[in-house]
Amino acid sequence: MTKILLPDRQATEQLGITLGKNLTASSVILLQGDLGAGKTTLVQGIGKSLGIIDSIVSPTFTLINEYTEGRIPLYHLDLYRLEPEEVTGLNLESYWEGIEVIPGIVAIEWAERMPYKPESYLIIGLTHQPNGTRQAEIHCVNSMIDDQLLHI
Ligand SMILES: Nc1ncnc2c1ncn2[C@@H]1O[C@H](COP(=O)(O)OP(=O)(O)OP(=O)(O)O)[C@@H](O)[C@H]1O
Ligand SMILES: [Mg+2]
Repeated sequence: MTKILLPDRQATEQLGITLGKNLTASSVILLQGDLGAGKTTLVQGIGKSLGIIDSIVSPTFTLINEYTEGRIPLYHLDLYRLEPEEVTGLNLESYWEGIEVIPGIVAIEWAERMPYKPESYLIIGLTHQPNGTRQAEIHCVNSMIDDQLLHI
């Protein structure tokens, strides 16, 4: 487990850039944390490092945004509006199994809403700090890469 202090928006984006540089296709990143904790900002960093030029906006209403013009695809999901039973119907595993879609990085906001999880993933919890900054807590679950290999 790694804890990182993120003093400003740029630091959150930079963490995403570092992750994007080191993760391979089919990696799953589960993002947890309150409203406004910085989940979308981190995904914007991932997009930047993959060379995605399209601006990454929160898929709160669309549920899933797919960006395929970068080095590897980025699938950005936001489960905020869903109940766990509704998430089950989304067939999310097709994203990390890469069966019907080209394997890519799968980043999921409001992963607390997932009734089931992939076999291996990174889980990042973002929290508001009293002084307006954020803190990230990163756990690798059954992941081949650990924090050291991620250079964070
Ligand atoms: N480390 C940080 N310190 C201060 N502000 C930050 C930090 N990281 C991100 N922000 C700012 O916090 C605001 C909310 O960020 P963001 O939209 O990424 O949150 P979110 O977790 O995706 O929110 P939501 O739950 O609504 O999806 C933005 O204005 C962003 O610039
Ligand atoms: Mg968001």
